Amino acid sequence: DARKEGQSLALKVQTGTTAFFPGRDSRTFGYNGNYLGPVIRVHRGDDVEIAVTNALSEATTVHWHGLLIPGEMDGGPHQLIRPGTTWRPVVSVRQPAATLFYHSHVHDRTAEQVYSGLTGVLIVTEDSEKALGLPSEYGVDDLPLVLQDRQFEDGRLVVPQGMMSLMMGRRGDTLLVNGTPNPVARVPRRLARLRFVNGSNARIFNLAFSDDRAFHWIASEGGLLERPVELRSLTLAPGERAEILADFSDGRPVALETGADLNMPMMMGMQRRLRSFFSDLLGRSREHILRFEPQGGASGTKAAVPERLAEHERVDAAQAVRRRRFVLNMGMGGMMGGRGGMMGGDRGSGMAMHGINSRAFDMKRIDEQVRLGDIEIWEASGEMMAHPLHIHGVHFEVLSRDGGKPTVRDQGLRDTVLVKEPVELLARFTQAATKAPFMYHCHILEHEDNGMMGQFTVG
Ligand code: C2O
Ligand code: CU
Ligand code: CU
Repeated sequence: DARKEGQSLALKVQTGTTAFFPGRDSRTFGYNGNYLGPVIRVHRGDDVEIAVTNALSEATTVHWHGLLIPGEMDGGPHQLIRPGTTWRPVVSVRQPAATLFYHSHVHDRTAEQVYSGLTGVLIVTEDSEKALGLPSEYGVDDLPLVLQDRQFEDGRLVVPQGMMSLMMGRRGDTLLVNGTPNPVARVPRRLARLRFVNGSNARIFNLAFSDDRAFHWIASEGGLLERPVELRSLTLAPGERAEILADFSDGRPVALETGADLNMPMMMGMQRRLRSFFSDLLGRSREHILRFEPQGGASGTKAAVPERLAEHERVDAAQAVRRRRFVLNMGMGGMMGGRGGMMGGDRGSGMAMHGINSRAFDMKRIDEQVRLGDIEIWEASGEMMAHPLHIHGVHFEVLSRDGGKPTVRDQGLRDTVLVKEPVELLARFTQAATKAPFMYHCHILEHEDNGMMGQFTVG
C-alpha cells in the first residue's frame, strides 16, 4: 500500500493480529496496521512533518534509516516515544532518490520490536530520475520488497529466545516478502525495478533467480549507481538495500531464491577443509523466496537498461583529516573473562555480550566527536563473523577491503556494509548531531541490542 502524502503524515505504532497462515493468528506490531508499515514516499526538496504516535504499551522510537537529517530528527535511541505520546520530527529531504526504510531503534528492544513487525519502506523520489526511463509504475513494475526470515510454530510467529539467538542473531525457518509467505508477484512482460530491503534481524541473503538469469544492479543504499552492474547473484545483509532491474519480457515464470546464509561463527571456527565441505553442501541448496508470473503480451519494444544512471560527486580521500578504527567484538572472549570492559556499562541487565573496541554501548557515553563538514576515514573490522556495519547521518564510500580494492558489491553510496576483514570507509559528515548523537552499529539487531553500537556527535 503506497501512501503518497503532501507535507505531513501520521504513523501509529500499534499492536495487531496477523494471519500469516490461514486460521493461525499471530500477535504482531505494525505501523498503521498489523505488521510492517505503509510505504512512505517523499520527494527531494520536501519538508515533511511526521506525527508518530505510540499506541504500544512499551516505549519505541522510529529511525529513518538512510535519511540524511540532523541527530534530533533521526529517531535513534535518544528520541524515545513513550506509550500514549506523539513525536513530531520534521524531515527535510535533500538527498538523491533512494530506497530507505524506517524501523524501531529503542535500545535493548530493537531486535524484538523489529522481529514483531516494526519496519517499513521509505522511498525518496526526485525529478531527474524520470529522464532515465526506469520502470516507475508503483506496485506494477516498481516493487518494494521487504525480505525477512521469521520463525513459525504451528503457523504462528514466535520470537526466538535463548543464547544462540543472542549470539548470532534471531533467524527463522520461513521467508516472508512484505509480510507474506510464498508470495506471487504478477508483473508485466517487461523490465521491472525491484527494490530489495533486507529487513531480517540477522539473515544474509544471496539472491539469484531460479534460472540464474542475469539482472542489473542499479542502486545501493544512497541511491543510483553511476552505471548499472550486470550480476547473476547479489548478497544482501541486514539493513542493506539494493535495487535491480529484472527482465521479464520472455514471459516465463521465474522464482527469486536465496542461497544458504553461511555467516555462522561455528562455520568460521571450523577447519578449512570441513568448512569448505559444508559451504559446498549448503551453497548448492537454495530456498524459494518469491515467484514472478509475467502477464500480458510482449511489449514489442525491447526493454532498455540505461547506460549511465547518475553522476557522483567524489569525496577526495586526500582531504580526510582523521582516521578512526573500530573493531566489532563478538562477546565470547569477554564472556569468558578474556576481555576487559565488555561486562561493564550501566545497563540494567548487568552484562553485555558484544561491543565495539572492547566497550559495550552506553547511552550516556559519547564515543566519538566529529567536526561538521569534515572528511574522515573510518576503518572497521569484525570478529568471528561478518557484521553489517551501519553509520547514521552519512553516506560513505568503501575505499578498500582487506588491504586491496573494494569488491564489485562495495561500490556506490552506502550506509550499511558487511565488515569482517578490514574495510576503509570514506565519508563527509554533513549532518549536525549536537542535540542528539548519531549511532554506528552492527545491523544484526541482537548484536546491536547487546552492545555492538557506539554513538558520535557532529558539530
Ligand atoms: Cu537501520 Cu541504526 O539502524
Ligand atoms: Cu540508520
Ligand atoms: Cu554483528
